[in-house]
Amino acid sequence: MTVSIPSPLTSDADWWRSAVVYQVYVRSFADSDGDGIGDLHGIRERLPYLRELGVDALWLTPFYTSPMVDGGYDVADYRDVDPMFGNLADFEAMITDAHALGLRIIVDIVPNHTSDQHPWFTAALAAAPGSPERARYLFADGKGDDGAQPPNDWESIFGGPAWTRVPDGQWYLHLFDPAQPDLNWRHPEVRAEFEDILRFWLDRGVDGFRIDVAHGMIKAEGLPDVGFNSMTTGRRQSELLGKGRLPYFDQDEVHDIYRAWRPILDSYPGGRMAVAEAWAETPQRLARYIGPDELHQAFSFDFLDATWSADSFRKVIDTALAESTIVGAPTTWVLSNHDRQRHVTRYGDGEIGLRRARAAALLMLALPGCAYLYQGEELGLPEVLDLPDELRQDPAFLRTGESRDGCRVPIPWSGELAPYGFGPAGSELSWLPAPTTWRALSVAAQTGTPGSTLELYRAALRIRHTHPTLADLGGITWLESGPGVLAFQREAGDTVLTCAVNISDAPVVIDGYGTPLVASATLTERDGGHLLPVDSAVWFERH
Ligand code: NOJ
Repeated sequence: MTVSIPSPLTSDADWWRSAVVYQVYVRSFADSDGDGIGDLHGIRERLPYLRELGVDALWLTPFYTSPMVDGGYDVADYRDVDPMFGNLADFEAMITDAHALGLRIIVDIVPNHTSDQHPWFTAALAAAPGSPERARYLFADGKGDDGAQPPNDWESIFGGPAWTRVPDGQWYLHLFDPAQPDLNWRHPEVRAEFEDILRFWLDRGVDGFRIDVAHGMIKAEGLPDVGFNSMTTGRRQSELLGKGRLPYFDQDEVHDIYRAWRPILDSYPGGRMAVAEAWAETPQRLARYIGPDELHQAFSFDFLDATWSADSFRKVIDTALAESTIVGAPTTWVLSNHDRQRHVTRYGDGEIGLRRARAAALLMLALPGCAYLYQGEELGLPEVLDLPDELRQDPAFLRTGESRDGCRVPIPWSGELAPYGFGPAGSELSWLPAPTTWRALSVAAQTGTPGSTLELYRAALRIRHTHPTLADLGGITWLESGPGVLAFQREAGDTVLTCAVNISDAPVVIDGYGTPLVASATLTERDGGHLLPVDSAVWFERH
């Protein structure tokens, strides 16, 4: 079966269509000043590593002025750098160096909510109900005789009610933490402000934006009840994310915002792009965020929920490629990010999880479209499951007991002692502790080590950039393969690249696809073919 995707010309402005984007969780990437927290100068110092790894662009999680209640997704000043991460001059030096190395920079923009320390929100709290200051947020009177019940039954994604009461009796909406009040996107000042913020960063040379909660800015008129929540029925509203309709997500009017943003992006040279973190009920509704008059991409998150099975991977791939056909733009692939358990651990942890994660990387990198890597996946890092509770910082942990800190532990770069070169020589600080097993996973320990995960990623990215079949944005052709084996081809002229993944519980002989280019495990010759071990993947080339 051939799944075809439109094959637009890959001019420079189209770089994002097939790019490999490396997500930098700024706080945990590289600490240049020894305070135990990653920073912009640390990223700048590590750009050569990323260039050599072979990625095309970096996506930086928020580094703006913030009280850091939600790791910087609570912004107090959208036009400045938090002193924890450096300053604007550091940003400018970093982006200048990145561009000189051919690396593009995507920054996160957080338009659904501000920090409660944002001057607009402190002014709103100081002003009276019904004032213009309150109109920029979603303040409402409560229900019940004394207004002591929240205005509706909406639930925070982090657990608990989505409303907090202020001393004068009104309530304000926060779909996330109480320290993240939702903005009123029906207010013209809010729209004008964010258009100006986009220009501020575009003027500083950013190549794109990752839009946080891109489906959330418009809430249904009248703020209607959902009808259930975990307080009333024990069922969390967030279960409907990506599966059902919620009055606070994916409202039709949200598209007006992106239709206003696109001309701003297009007015800058060099292919400035935007990728939506959006959740919608159906692939068709998700596809509405993408197009020549809206955004360039929306994350396709299905891999994050796929179990280690050939059927589930095949379904994810077919769905994503079909979505691409709907929107006429190649899809995105994501195995891990800063909100989800790392895929080594999702696939079984330990040695098995690592084998599978390496195979999944070869699977993802052989697919057409844009691949998003999360820092540390190239090292095969697992989730850190045993962080002491008192060190956990995720606001969701306090409200739900679920924490995303385990995928945010600082990266091991080198050396014998934790935090393994995260900071300058001699620095022992890191805001979350790295396990001792990470000594063997550091960049230095894996560099030049045959068979290491880092060298596997480097080899795969090198081939991805140079192999004619992988540059092509055309479709894939699935091959007949035994149960539990996924195999597909990409073609360019006479050259064929075959990717095969063995998800079954026995080694399989693979024959007739040519010479192996890269494999996630050691192949052996068998019966004139190659024996592909369990939980592994290979790319073959044939002319
Ligand atoms: C999605 C971000 O990825 C996540 O880290 C954050 O907590 C929420 N949006 C709220 O901004």
